[in-house]
Amino acid sequence: MIDELKKEIEKVKKGFLQEIDQILSKEDLKKLRDKYTSRKNGILTEFMHNLKKASKELRPIAGQTINELKLIIEDKFKETEKTLISKVYGRVDYSLPEFDFSVGYSHILSNILTKIEDIFLNSGYEIAYGFEVESEYNNFTALNIPEHHPARDEHDTFFIKDFENTILRTHTSPVQIRYMNEHKPPIKIISPGKVFRKDEPDATHTPVFTQVEGLLIDKDINFSHLKGTLESFIKSFFGENINVRFRPGYFPFTEPSAEVDISCFLCFGKDQDCKICKGTGWLEILGSGMVHPKVLLNCNINPEEYSGFAFGMGVERIALLKYGIPDIRMFYENDIRFLSQFG
Ligand code: PHE
Repeated sequence: MIDELKKEIEKVKKGFLQEIDQILSKEDLKKLRDKYTSRKNGILTEFMHNLKKASKELRPIAGQTINELKLIIEDKFKETEKTLISKVYGRVDYSLPEFDFSVGYSHILSNILTKIEDIFLNSGYEIAYGFEVESEYNNFTALNIPEHHPARDEHDTFFIKDFENTILRTHTSPVQIRYMNEHKPPIKIISPGKVFRKDEPDATHTPVFTQVEGLLIDKDINFSHLKGTLESFIKSFFGENINVRFRPGYFPFTEPSAEVDISCFLCFGKDQDCKICKGTGWLEILGSGMVHPKVLLNCNINPEEYSGFAFGMGVERIALLKYGIPDIRMFYENDIRFLSQFG
């Protein structure tokens, strides 16, 4: 008799667990609750009712067995109440039409920056960040650009109103000053970031643009290290078949200084009317040089003991050249038709 009851209860339990698993709405859950626990004719109530018919000896064991089922059923109802919402929303109806999800991607300038950073990170450089709002000292004076030096006028500077000696940095070179002040050589960093110049926007100028500068300071560093470093960077970035040319240049913070050109990757100097090199066969992409001893001294580094090189490039300019983009402002207009071509 008791074995029969246990078998029956097991059957009810199995059926119940299957049923509750299918439930997807509150209404159905309520119906199921009634079916099992309603006082009038719920299945559990019926069991309890029949208990009265059982013999005195069997009654306690039968009662316990029914109670166990009752607890399982109650627990399961509580649990299902909690999980019902996620269960309903988690269900996917594959027959519905698809959503038009457009997947995001990083901006072309970020992509180029990441590529440049990766090349230098692979050669053991660290990335150093500074501040977009800088002191005139870090941006100019420490870099051997004293007041009234014509180079200050070349960098058309945004001054911060009401804050003396405070500007928006015109290049990321002040990051190098900060880094040299805080670290002892050997130093091997690149400093990427936004820079600001009061330029009227046109096809090749925007008042905000992106630079990456590099700095290496150690014992016995000479110009050939600079050449080797930049040549290998340029070949990794633009391709092995690209030639590199160093021309004498001038920057107050490097001596000697060199402008770096790469051979035109569009026409290789063969097209007199080439869109990007204008027939010269060369494209200017970098400024560089050996760090001026005065700059090292300004950062408490002994120029008798240490030497180093620095270089700087504009990310927008590199992107313009690499992809033959006609106007720098296109990077900032956020026209998806343009940007999605580089996703
Ligand atoms: N700071 C220079 C600029 O913005 C670039 C540069 C960096 C040149 C380092 C030489 C060495 O124009």
